[in-house]
Parts: sequence; structure tokens; C-alpha cells
Amino acid sequence: MQESNVKYFKNLNELLIYCDKLTDDKISRIYIDKQVLFKFPQLKKLSENYKEIEIIEEKKNLDTVSKIWEDMFEKSIQRSSTVLCIGGGVLSDAVGFASSTYKRGTGLVIIPTTLLSMVDAAHGGKNGINTTHGKNQIGTFMMPDQVLICPEFLGELPDKQIKNGLIELIKAGFLKSPELVQQVYETDISKVNIELIKAAIDIKNEIIKNDFKESSERMYLNFGHTIGHLIEIDSKHSIPHGEAVGIGILKALKISEKMCNLDINVSDNFENFLKKLDLNIDYKFSGNPEQLKELLFNDKKFSKDVVKYVLLKNIGNPVLVDFNLDDLLNEVTYA
Ligand SMILES: NC(=O)c1ccc[n+]([C@@H]2O[C@H](COP(=O)([O-])OP(=O)(O)OC[C@H]3O[C@@H](n4cnc5c(N)ncnc54)[C@H](O)[C@@H]3O)[C@@H](O)[C@H]2O)c1
Repeated sequence: MQESNVKYFKNLNELLIYCDKLTDDKISRIYIDKQVLFKFPQLKKLSENYKEIEIIEEKKNLDTVSKIWEDMFEKSIQRSSTVLCIGGGVLSDAVGFASSTYKRGTGLVIIPTTLLSMVDAAHGGKNGINTTHGKNQIGTFMMPDQVLICPEFLGELPDKQIKNGLIELIKAGFLKSPELVQQVYETDISKVNIELIKAAIDIKNEIIKNDFKESSERMYLNFGHTIGHLIEIDSKHSIPHGEAVGIGILKALKISEKMCNLDINVSDNFENFLKKLDLNIDYKFSGNPEQLKELLFNDKKFSKDVVKYVLLKNIGNPVLVDFNLDDLLNEVTYA
């Protein structure tokens, strides 16, 4: 059996001790989210060989990746080198892409610092950047050698970002574990514990183990994402990833009631959860169906006039259906 690439640390001190050895032995360059370094200046102790990157979703693009490639050349990074990325999902997607393409791939270790990246983005080896043709349309599959999880980073994370992460966490539960869904509903957002994080990571990694290149089961992880991605683009990223996916999940649950006889309580409970978190439960698109169709043409789940769409028969029992595009676009709300 393949050994897990995930390691857990109780606190930053423990993580720093582990990384100290790693930087001596292996790590050739550290790319770190500027915000994270500001909040956790003790990370400077790891090495002088780091580069701060100011990154937001709008900068998850080729320009940022080119700058990282340039830095890698300047620092004489080799294929045998290992790069350490410390930050949220936006940075790990971009650094992961840069390192997977530089000299056909360097080693990569990720320390995810947001809840969303701890439970989802840092795992599974999908790297990517956005282009004018849509989100994550250019990307690679390259598993990180290690993902180091330290919940102490969450102590400085704004509530808005915790809520974002909870959406991807509960998504894992919808796909595989009614118990996890229930635990998330009962969690105080200031006390997201390592057990919940671990449960979501295990679910994602189990799915990926069976279908790394996303030809079947891995598509379940797109639950809520088809409409979620459209919302992110249409709102010009003013609605962040997790929140957009939350609206997408609620829509998918409602459609599941009609198409898969999903118990109505499932969407009611999720809607109440979104309201409890003070998150939006719907979104009015500024674009018309034709414009959204054009965006979906570039979506990786799209082929001809159907989208591969994830529905639920029950919590823990997802199904992939070929959904007529016009029917799907009739389900969303327009301004
Ligand atoms: N590759 C995948 O499989 C995958 C899966 C899910 C999502 N994603 C991608 O992940 C991205 C979203 O990631 P995200 O939600 O982590 O956003 P993010 O990386 O933008 O981080 C959110 C904000 O929190 C700040 N931040 C990070 N860590 C912090 C900390 N510990 N304390 C205080 N502030 C901190 C960041 O600077 C940023 O301002 C999207 O681009 C999405 O497409 C990728």
C-alpha cells in the first residue's frame, strides 16, 4: 500500500522543528504567501532562502507563474531540487503548476495555511492557473511529495476564510460520510478540530487513489463546482471559491430532490447551515444563459451539449449524470 504523503503537527513549533531538518536536507527554495509571513514571522527562521509572494485569485495566472519560473532559474533550482510552498490554495495551485512544469518537474512540499487548502486544495496533485478562458484551464497533475498540516495557522485566519473551508470540508462528507456532515453542522467555527480536517483529507485521498487523472470517481469532487465556478467568474471573484461552491452545492441538492429522490431534509439542513454561517444561499447572474454557456464550453466537465454533473441519491451516495446544458442554466437565477 502507498504510504500517505500527509503529516500532521500539533503546533507551529513542532512543524518548524520538522521543516528545519527538511530545509537542511532537501528544500532548495521556499515560496510563501506574504500575508502568512506577516502573521507568522517565526517562519523566517526556516531559511533565508525564501520569496514572499503577494497572491490573490486574480493573480493566479501565467504572469505570476513566469515570475516564479524566473526566480527558479535565478536560484539554480534543478529537477532534483524540492520547492516548499507555504500558503493557501491560490498560492499552492500556482507554485504547484510552476514546479510541475519547471525542468519537467521539481519536488514539491506544501504547507497549506487556510482551512480550504488544508482539507482540499493542497491534496491530490491538481495544479493550475486561470486564463481569460476560465478557471484552472491550464494545469497539470503532479502529486506533492508531502503535505504538512498544522492547525495553528487557522488561529489567524479570518472567519470568512474558515467558512470558505468548511464548505469544501462538508463537501467531502456529502460524498462519503453522513457522520462528517453532521459533525460539521455541530461545529463551532472557532473550534474546527484536526479530526474533522483529517476526515476530509482521508476522503479526498481515497477518491484520488482510485482515479488520479479524473476519468470517473474523482469527478465527484466537483460536487457544487460547476455552478460555483460560474459564480466566481460572473462575480469577478468578489464571491470567493468556498462560498460560491456552497451556493452550487445547495443548487445540486435541490436538483437531486427532483432527479434522484434525495430527502428534502438534506437541502433544508444545508440551507440552514449556510444561513447560520451568514453565507449567501443564492446568486443572481449578471450574464445571460448564452454567455454562461460560453463559459461552460471551457469547463472541463463539459462535452457537446451536456455537462457531467454530480448529484446525490443520499448523503454518501453521489452519482454522475449527463445534464442537458440548457436545463442546467434554467435552474439558476438571473438579475
Ligand atoms: N488544486 C485543487 O485541487 C483545488 C481544490 C480546491 C480549491 N482550489 C483552489 O484554491 C483556491 C482558494 O484557496 P484559498 O481559499 O486557500 O484562498 P487563498 O489562497 O486566496 O487564501 C485566502 C486568503 O487568506 C490569506 N491567508 C492564507 N493563510 C492565512 C493564515 N493562516 N492566516 C491569515 N490569512 C491567511 C491569503 O493571503 C488570502 O488573502 C482557488 O483558486 C481554488 O480554485 C484548488
